[in-house]
Amino acid sequence: MENYRTKRILVTGGAGFLGSHLCDRLLAGGHEVVCVDNFFTGSKQNVVHLRDEPRFEVIRHDVTFPLYLEVDEIMNLACPASPIHYQTDPVQTTKTSVHGAINVLGLAKRLGCKIFQASTSEVYGDPQVHPQTEDYWGHVNPVGIRSCYDEGKRCAETLFFDYHRQVGLRIKVARIFNTYGPRMHPNDGRVVSNFIVQALRGDPLTIYGDGEQTRSFCYVDDLIEGFVRLMETPDSVTGPINLGNPGEFTVGELARRVLDLTGSKSKVRHLPLPQDDPVRRQPDITLARKTLDWEPRTPLSEGLPRTIEYFDAFLRRHGRPARNSER
Ligand SMILES: NC(=O)c1ccc[n+]([C@@H]2O[C@H](COP(=O)([O-])OP(=O)(O)OC[C@H]3O[C@@H](n4cnc5c(N)ncnc54)[C@H](O)[C@@H]3O)[C@@H](O)[C@H]2O)c1
Repeated sequence: MENYRTKRILVTGGAGFLGSHLCDRLLAGGHEVVCVDNFFTGSKQNVVHLRDEPRFEVIRHDVTFPLYLEVDEIMNLACPASPIHYQTDPVQTTKTSVHGAINVLGLAKRLGCKIFQASTSEVYGDPQVHPQTEDYWGHVNPVGIRSCYDEGKRCAETLFFDYHRQVGLRIKVARIFNTYGPRMHPNDGRVVSNFIVQALRGDPLTIYGDGEQTRSFCYVDDLIEGFVRLMETPDSVTGPINLGNPGEFTVGELARRVLDLTGSKSKVRHLPLPQDDPVRRQPDITLARKTLDWEPRTPLSEGLPRTIEYFDAFLRRHGRPARNSER
Protein backbone atom coordinates (compact mmCIF):
# COMPACT_ATOMS: atom_id res chain seq x y z
CA MET A 1 0.00 0.00 0.00
CA GLU A 2 1.18 3.57 -0.74
CA ASN A 3 2.00 5.99 2.05
CA TYR A 4 -1.02 8.12 2.78
CA ARG A 5 -0.91 11.73 1.58
CA THR A 6 -3.60 14.16 0.54
CA LYS A 7 -4.10 14.59 -3.17
CA ARG A 8 -6.18 16.57 -5.64
CA ILE A 9 -8.39 14.03 -7.34
CA LEU A 10 -10.48 14.51 -10.46
CA VAL A 11 -13.79 12.61 -10.39
CA THR A 12 -15.57 12.65 -13.74
CA GLY A 13 -19.28 11.96 -13.40
CA GLY A 14 -18.88 13.20 -9.82
CA ALA A 15 -22.47 14.49 -9.59
CA GLY A 16 -23.94 11.09 -10.38
CA PHE A 17 -25.03 8.30 -8.07
CA LEU A 18 -21.66 6.60 -7.51
CA GLY A 19 -19.59 9.71 -8.27
CA SER A 20 -21.21 11.76 -5.52
CA HIS A 21 -20.58 9.04 -2.93
CA LEU A 22 -16.99 8.81 -4.14
CA CYS A 23 -16.57 12.60 -3.75
CA ASP A 24 -17.90 12.30 -0.16
CA ARG A 25 -15.50 9.50 0.60
CA LEU A 26 -12.42 11.21 -0.88
CA LEU A 27 -13.19 14.46 0.95
CA ALA A 28 -13.64 12.51 4.18
CA GLY A 29 -10.17 11.09 3.54
CA GLY A 30 -8.74 14.63 3.52
CA HIS A 31 -8.32 14.98 -0.26
CA GLU A 32 -9.26 17.80 -2.61
CA VAL A 33 -11.86 16.84 -5.19
CA VAL A 34 -12.54 18.34 -8.60
CA CYS A 35 -15.88 17.05 -9.83
CA VAL A 36 -16.43 17.24 -13.59
CA ASP A 37 -19.93 16.55 -14.86
CA ASN A 38 -22.22 17.59 -17.71
CA PHE A 39 -25.30 16.83 -15.56
CA PHE A 40 -26.80 14.51 -18.16
CA THR A 41 -27.91 12.06 -15.47
CA GLY A 42 -26.19 13.59 -12.46
CA SER A 43 -27.61 16.46 -10.46
CA LYS A 44 -26.40 19.36 -8.36
CA GLN A 45 -28.68 18.03 -5.63
CA ASN A 46 -26.32 15.04 -5.25
CA VAL A 47 -23.43 17.31 -4.28
CA VAL A 48 -25.27 20.31 -2.83
CA HIS A 49 -24.21 19.31 0.68
CA LEU A 50 -20.59 19.90 -0.40
CA ARG A 51 -21.27 23.48 -1.57
CA ASP A 52 -19.41 25.10 1.32
CA GLU A 53 -16.53 22.63 1.35
CA PRO A 54 -13.38 24.54 0.31
CA ARG A 55 -11.67 21.33 -0.87
CA PHE A 56 -14.48 20.63 -3.37
CA GLU A 57 -15.21 22.20 -6.73
CA VAL A 58 -17.58 21.41 -9.57
CA ILE A 59 -16.89 22.05 -13.25
CA ARG A 60 -19.63 21.65 -15.86
CA HIS A 61 -17.88 19.90 -18.73
CA ASP A 62 -18.57 17.14 -21.23
CA VAL A 63 -15.74 14.58 -21.20
CA THR A 64 -16.12 13.97 -24.94
CA PHE A 65 -14.16 17.24 -25.20
CA PRO A 66 -10.57 17.49 -23.95
CA LEU A 67 -10.00 18.91 -20.49
CA TYR A 68 -6.94 20.58 -19.02
CA LEU A 69 -6.56 20.43 -15.26
CA GLU A 70 -3.77 19.89 -12.76
CA VAL A 71 -4.57 16.89 -10.56
CA ASP A 72 -2.73 14.03 -8.84
CA GLU A 73 -5.19 11.26 -9.73
CA ILE A 74 -8.14 10.72 -12.04
CA MET A 75 -11.21 8.61 -11.40
CA ASN A 76 -13.30 8.30 -14.56
CA LEU A 77 -16.96 7.58 -13.83
CA ALA A 78 -18.62 9.78 -16.45
CA CYS A 79 -21.16 7.75 -18.41
CA PRO A 80 -24.90 7.23 -18.06
CA ALA A 81 -25.26 3.83 -16.42
CA SER A 82 -28.88 2.79 -16.80
CA PRO A 83 -30.33 1.47 -20.06
CA ILE A 84 -33.08 4.14 -20.13
CA HIS A 85 -30.46 6.89 -20.03
CA TYR A 86 -27.73 5.36 -22.15
CA GLN A 87 -30.21 4.40 -24.86
CA THR A 88 -31.60 7.96 -25.08
CA ASP A 89 -28.65 9.03 -27.22
CA PRO A 90 -26.63 5.90 -27.96
CA VAL A 91 -24.09 7.70 -30.14
CA GLN A 92 -23.33 10.11 -27.30
CA THR A 93 -23.04 7.10 -24.94
CA THR A 94 -20.34 5.52 -27.09
CA LYS A 95 -18.63 8.88 -27.44
CA THR A 96 -18.70 9.37 -23.66
CA SER A 97 -17.04 6.02 -23.08
CA VAL A 98 -14.57 6.12 -25.96
CA HIS A 99 -13.77 9.81 -26.58
CA GLY A 100 -14.14 10.36 -22.83
CA ALA A 101 -11.55 7.67 -22.15
CA ILE A 102 -9.19 9.09 -24.78
CA ASN A 103 -9.49 12.53 -23.21
CA VAL A 104 -8.93 11.48 -19.60
CA LEU A 105 -6.15 9.10 -20.59
CA GLY A 106 -4.49 11.91 -22.54
CA LEU A 107 -4.72 14.09 -19.43
CA ALA A 108 -3.27 11.29 -17.25
CA LYS A 109 -0.43 10.82 -19.71
CA ARG A 110 0.39 14.55 -19.66
CA LEU A 111 0.28 14.61 -15.84
CA GLY A 112 1.91 11.21 -15.38
CA CYS A 113 -0.84 10.36 -12.93
CA LYS A 114 -2.70 7.24 -11.90
CA ILE A 115 -6.12 6.75 -13.49
CA PHE A 116 -9.16 4.67 -12.54
CA GLN A 117 -11.85 3.47 -14.92
CA ALA A 118 -15.39 2.63 -13.81
CA SER A 119 -15.98 -0.31 -16.11
CA THR A 120 -18.90 -2.64 -15.82
CA SER A 121 -20.11 -6.21 -15.62
CA GLU A 122 -21.85 -5.40 -18.92
CA VAL A 123 -18.52 -6.12 -20.63
CA TYR A 124 -19.45 -9.79 -20.03
CA GLY A 125 -22.67 -9.28 -22.03
CA ASP A 126 -25.09 -12.17 -21.63
CA PRO A 127 -22.52 -14.43 -19.99
CA GLN A 128 -22.21 -18.13 -20.69
CA VAL A 129 -20.16 -18.82 -17.56
CA HIS A 130 -21.29 -18.29 -13.98
CA PRO A 131 -20.08 -16.65 -11.90
CA GLN A 132 -18.00 -14.35 -14.11
CA THR A 133 -14.28 -14.21 -13.51
CA GLU A 134 -12.09 -11.46 -14.93
CA ASP A 135 -10.52 -13.77 -17.52
CA TYR A 136 -13.90 -14.43 -19.16
CA TRP A 137 -14.00 -12.45 -22.42
CA GLY A 138 -17.75 -12.07 -22.55
CA HIS A 139 -20.65 -12.79 -24.84
CA VAL A 140 -21.66 -9.42 -26.22
CA ASN A 141 -23.95 -8.44 -29.06
CA PRO A 142 -22.11 -5.75 -31.03
CA VAL A 143 -25.22 -4.45 -32.85
CA GLY A 144 -27.98 -4.50 -30.23
CA ILE A 145 -29.60 -1.70 -28.30
CA ARG A 146 -27.28 -2.22 -25.32
CA SER A 147 -24.14 -2.26 -27.48
CA CYS A 148 -23.50 1.49 -27.21
CA TYR A 149 -22.86 0.93 -23.51
CA ASP A 150 -21.34 -2.57 -23.51
CA GLU A 151 -19.03 -2.05 -26.48
CA GLY A 152 -18.23 1.53 -25.44
CA LYS A 153 -17.05 0.26 -22.07
CA ARG A 154 -15.14 -2.60 -23.68
CA CYS A 155 -13.34 -0.18 -25.98
CA ALA A 156 -12.58 2.08 -23.01
CA GLU A 157 -10.93 -0.90 -21.27
CA THR A 158 -8.90 -1.55 -24.45
CA LEU A 159 -7.73 2.07 -24.45
CA PHE A 160 -6.75 1.89 -20.78
CA PHE A 161 -4.67 -1.24 -21.35
CA ASP A 162 -3.08 0.14 -24.52
CA TYR A 163 -2.07 3.33 -22.69
CA HIS A 164 -0.66 1.13 -19.96
CA ARG A 165 1.33 -1.05 -22.39
CA GLN A 166 2.31 1.72 -24.78
CA VAL A 167 3.25 4.59 -22.47
CA GLY A 168 3.39 2.89 -19.06
CA LEU A 169 0.36 4.69 -17.63
CA ARG A 170 -0.66 3.49 -14.16
CA ILE A 171 -4.21 2.20 -14.57
CA LYS A 172 -6.87 0.71 -12.30
CA VAL A 173 -9.87 -0.85 -14.04
CA ALA A 174 -12.85 -1.92 -11.91
CA ARG A 175 -15.69 -3.97 -13.35
CA ILE A 176 -18.67 -2.86 -11.34
CA PHE A 177 -21.71 -5.05 -10.84
CA ASN A 178 -25.19 -3.78 -9.95
CA THR A 179 -24.95 -1.29 -7.12
CA TYR A 180 -27.73 0.38 -5.20
CA GLY A 181 -28.19 2.96 -2.49
CA PRO A 182 -29.27 6.52 -1.77
CA ARG A 183 -29.01 8.96 -4.75
CA MET A 184 -29.90 6.40 -7.38
CA HIS A 185 -32.21 7.94 -9.96
CA PRO A 186 -35.86 7.52 -9.08
CA ASN A 187 -36.86 6.62 -12.62
CA ASP A 188 -33.85 5.08 -14.28
CA GLY A 189 -35.51 1.74 -14.86
CA ARG A 190 -33.07 -0.15 -12.63
CA VAL A 191 -34.67 -2.89 -10.68
CA VAL A 192 -33.95 -1.69 -7.13
CA SER A 193 -35.02 1.93 -7.66
CA ASN A 194 -37.99 0.81 -9.80
CA PHE A 195 -39.35 -1.48 -7.14
CA ILE A 196 -38.83 0.97 -4.28
CA VAL A 197 -40.45 3.90 -6.08
CA GLN A 198 -43.33 1.74 -7.32
CA ALA A 199 -43.89 0.35 -3.82
CA LEU A 200 -43.78 3.79 -2.18
CA ARG A 201 -46.22 5.17 -4.73
CA GLY A 202 -48.52 2.19 -4.43
CA ASP A 203 -48.03 1.36 -8.13
CA PRO A 204 -47.68 -2.25 -9.31
CA LEU A 205 -44.09 -3.59 -9.17
CA THR A 206 -42.99 -4.35 -12.71
CA ILE A 207 -41.19 -7.65 -13.18
CA TYR A 208 -39.79 -8.30 -16.66
CA GLY A 209 -40.09 -11.98 -17.53
CA ASP A 210 -40.96 -14.52 -14.88
CA GLY A 211 -38.83 -12.93 -12.13
CA GLU A 212 -36.52 -15.96 -11.96
CA GLN A 213 -33.60 -14.04 -13.52
CA THR A 214 -31.02 -13.26 -10.85
CA ARG A 215 -29.11 -10.14 -9.97
CA SER A 216 -26.45 -9.39 -7.40
CA PHE A 217 -26.72 -6.08 -5.59
CA CYS A 218 -23.85 -4.32 -3.87
CA TYR A 219 -24.49 -1.51 -1.41
CA VAL A 220 -22.85 1.73 -2.55
CA ASP A 221 -20.61 2.25 0.52
CA ASP A 222 -19.09 -1.21 0.03
CA LEU A 223 -18.37 -0.50 -3.62
CA ILE A 224 -16.71 2.86 -2.89
CA GLU A 225 -14.52 1.13 -0.30
CA GLY A 226 -13.44 -1.21 -3.11
CA PHE A 227 -12.55 1.77 -5.36
CA VAL A 228 -10.42 3.34 -2.63
CA ARG A 229 -8.61 0.08 -1.91
CA LEU A 230 -7.95 -0.50 -5.62
CA MET A 231 -6.43 2.98 -5.94
CA GLU A 232 -4.09 2.20 -3.03
CA THR A 233 -2.68 -0.99 -4.57
CA PRO A 234 0.84 -1.14 -6.02
CA ASP A 235 1.26 -0.05 -9.65
CA SER A 236 1.49 -3.69 -10.76
CA VAL A 237 -2.22 -4.08 -9.98
CA THR A 238 -4.10 -2.84 -13.03
CA GLY A 239 -7.28 -4.88 -12.94
CA PRO A 240 -9.67 -5.55 -14.50
CA ILE A 241 -11.08 -6.52 -11.15
CA ASN A 242 -14.68 -7.41 -10.35
CA LEU A 243 -16.37 -5.40 -7.63
CA GLY A 244 -19.83 -6.48 -6.64
CA ASN A 245 -21.81 -8.61 -4.30
CA PRO A 246 -21.80 -12.32 -5.18
CA GLY A 247 -24.97 -12.93 -3.15
CA GLU A 248 -27.61 -13.73 -5.77
CA PHE A 249 -31.29 -12.92 -5.50
CA THR A 250 -34.01 -13.49 -8.00
CA VAL A 251 -35.78 -10.36 -9.14
CA GLY A 252 -39.01 -11.85 -7.75
CA GLU A 253 -37.40 -12.25 -4.33
CA LEU A 254 -36.21 -8.64 -4.36
CA ALA A 255 -39.76 -7.51 -5.13
CA ARG A 256 -41.04 -9.43 -2.10
CA ARG A 257 -38.36 -7.88 0.18
CA VAL A 258 -39.22 -4.36 -1.00
CA LEU A 259 -42.93 -4.97 -0.42
CA ASP A 260 -42.21 -6.25 3.09
CA LEU A 261 -39.90 -3.36 4.04
CA THR A 262 -42.15 -0.61 2.67
CA GLY A 263 -45.33 -2.20 3.97
CA SER A 264 -46.73 -1.48 0.53
CA LYS A 265 -49.91 -3.07 -0.77
CA SER A 266 -48.70 -2.82 -4.38
CA LYS A 267 -49.34 -5.76 -6.70
CA VAL A 268 -46.77 -7.35 -9.01
CA ARG A 269 -47.14 -6.99 -12.81
CA HIS A 270 -45.20 -9.18 -15.29
CA LEU A 271 -44.02 -7.72 -18.63
CA PRO A 272 -41.96 -9.29 -21.47
CA LEU A 273 -38.16 -9.32 -21.05
CA PRO A 274 -36.42 -6.49 -22.97
CA GLN A 275 -34.05 -7.40 -25.83
CA ASP A 276 -30.58 -8.57 -24.71
CA ASP A 277 -31.49 -8.49 -21.01
CA PRO A 278 -29.02 -10.82 -19.27
CA VAL A 279 -30.74 -13.70 -17.54
CA ARG A 280 -28.12 -14.18 -14.89
CA ARG A 281 -25.15 -12.14 -13.67
CA GLN A 282 -23.00 -12.83 -10.64
CA PRO A 283 -19.48 -11.64 -9.86
CA ASP A 284 -16.67 -13.90 -8.84
CA ILE A 285 -14.80 -11.63 -6.41
CA THR A 286 -11.95 -14.01 -5.57
CA LEU A 287 -9.45 -11.57 -7.09
CA ALA A 288 -10.81 -8.59 -5.12
CA ARG A 289 -10.78 -10.63 -1.91
CA LYS A 290 -7.17 -11.61 -2.50
CA THR A 291 -5.78 -8.37 -3.92
CA LEU A 292 -7.79 -5.80 -1.98
CA ASP A 293 -8.78 -7.82 1.07
CA TRP A 294 -12.26 -6.59 0.14
CA GLU A 295 -15.73 -7.99 0.13
CA PRO A 296 -19.17 -6.43 0.53
CA ARG A 297 -20.22 -6.10 4.16
CA THR A 298 -23.68 -4.58 3.94
CA PRO A 299 -26.50 -7.11 3.63
CA LEU A 300 -29.67 -6.24 1.71
CA SER A 301 -31.44 -6.16 5.06
CA GLU A 302 -29.37 -3.04 5.96
CA GLY A 303 -28.88 -1.45 2.57
CA LEU A 304 -32.48 -1.68 1.38
CA PRO A 305 -33.99 0.23 4.34
CA ARG A 306 -31.42 3.05 3.89
CA THR A 307 -32.29 3.26 0.21
CA ILE A 308 -36.02 3.19 0.92
CA GLU A 309 -35.56 6.00 3.44
CA TYR A 310 -33.80 8.09 0.79
CA PHE A 311 -36.52 7.55 -1.79
CA ASP A 312 -39.26 8.19 0.73
CA ALA A 313 -37.70 11.59 1.54
CA PHE A 314 -37.08 12.26 -2.15
CA LEU A 315 -40.68 11.55 -3.11
CA ARG A 316 -41.99 13.68 -0.24
CA ARG A 317 -39.76 16.59 -1.37
CA HIS A 318 -41.05 16.29 -4.89
CA GLY A 319 -44.66 16.34 -3.80
CA ARG A 320 -45.48 12.74 -4.65
CA PRO A 321 -47.53 10.49 -2.44
CA ALA A 322 -45.31 8.81 0.15
CA ARG A 323 -45.77 5.31 1.57
CA ASN A 324 -49.10 4.14 0.29
CA SER A 325 -49.70 2.36 3.56
CA GLU A 326 -49.95 5.78 5.21
CA ARG A 327 -52.54 7.20 2.80
N1 LIG B 1 -24.45 2.01 -10.65
C1 LIG B 1 -24.10 0.83 -11.09
O1 LIG B 1 -24.68 -0.19 -10.68
C2 LIG B 1 -22.97 0.68 -12.08
C3 LIG B 1 -22.66 -0.61 -12.55
C4 LIG B 1 -21.62 -0.76 -13.46
C5 LIG B 1 -20.90 0.33 -13.88
N2 LIG B 1 -21.22 1.58 -13.43
C6 LIG B 1 -20.43 2.71 -13.93
O2 LIG B 1 -20.14 3.63 -12.90
C7 LIG B 1 -20.17 4.96 -13.40
C8 LIG B 1 -21.14 5.77 -12.58
O3 LIG B 1 -22.44 5.19 -12.66
P1 LIG B 1 -23.68 5.78 -11.84
O4 LIG B 1 -24.53 4.65 -11.46
O5 LIG B 1 -23.21 6.72 -10.83
O6 LIG B 1 -24.44 6.54 -13.02
P2 LIG B 1 -24.98 8.02 -13.08
O7 LIG B 1 -25.73 8.16 -14.36
O8 LIG B 1 -25.68 8.37 -11.80
O9 LIG B 1 -23.64 8.85 -13.13
C9 LIG B 1 -22.94 9.13 -14.30
C10 LIG B 1 -22.50 10.58 -14.24
O10 LIG B 1 -21.76 10.89 -15.43
C11 LIG B 1 -22.23 12.13 -15.94
N3 LIG B 1 -21.98 12.14 -17.38
C12 LIG B 1 -22.58 11.39 -18.33
N4 LIG B 1 -22.07 11.66 -19.53
C13 LIG B 1 -21.11 12.62 -19.32
C14 LIG B 1 -20.24 13.33 -20.19
N5 LIG B 1 -20.23 13.12 -21.51
N6 LIG B 1 -19.40 14.26 -19.64
C15 LIG B 1 -19.42 14.50 -18.29
N7 LIG B 1 -20.22 13.85 -17.43
C16 LIG B 1 -21.06 12.92 -17.95
C17 LIG B 1 -23.70 12.17 -15.57
O11 LIG B 1 -24.27 13.47 -15.62
C18 LIG B 1 -23.68 11.56 -14.19
O12 LIG B 1 -23.46 12.53 -13.20
C19 LIG B 1 -20.56 4.86 -14.87
O13 LIG B 1 -19.40 4.93 -15.65
C20 LIG B 1 -21.18 3.49 -14.98
O14 LIG B 1 -21.02 2.95 -16.26
C21 LIG B 1 -22.25 1.77 -12.55
